[in-house]
Amino acid sequence: MRAHTPTLTALFLAALMTLPAQAPAADSELYQALGERSGISTIVKDLLGRIADDDRIAPQFKGIDVRRFHRNLTDQLCTLSGGPCTYSGKDMRSVHAGMGVTETQFNALVEQLIRAMEEEGVPTWAQNQLLAELVPLHDRIVDVPARE
Ligand code: HEM
Repeated sequence: MRAHTPTLTALFLAALMTLPAQAPAADSELYQALGERSGISTIVKDLLGRIADDDRIAPQFKGIDVRRFHRNLTDQLCTLSGGPCTYSGKDMRSVHAGMGVTETQFNALVEQLIRAMEEEGVPTWAQNQLLAELVPLHDRIVDVPARE
């Protein structure tokens, strides 16, 4: 069995467990706290710069269609936060299949997302709530085998 880094994955779970006590209930409150679609778009733009500067993950993103990635990740986070968006990108399993995304890389991207949210003044409860929405995506992104 593979050893898991007990860093951000553990943080995710901790956040998940403490959510009911901390966070406002309605999903749309999360969407508002993120600054609606335009706020999310700015967070993703900030995230893109941070990915490019992070040697742990930058090589994986070399040559991608940046506008498409920006649009689709923005719509995905918008939808996950309860906003009125439609995600029209590929499903997480197919898009990351064969990339060999590691646990460390997953955590690195999440770390940069947290920094981007900090930069945009997103309150901690909202950061935690968005991260909790990403937890179910983990197994569809990390170590997904290449498609036949
Ligand atoms: C919370 C974690 C992550 C989320 C929510 C996420 C989400 C997404 C989304 C929405 C797309 C766009 C799909 C499309 O355009 O159809 C995408 C593409 C991509 N992701 Fe991720 N991702 C995550 C982690 C990672 C990690 C850790 C890596 C690699 C280090 C990675 C590498 C890529 C690459 C290279 C693409 C572009 C693929 C292409 O356009 O051909 N992702 N991801």
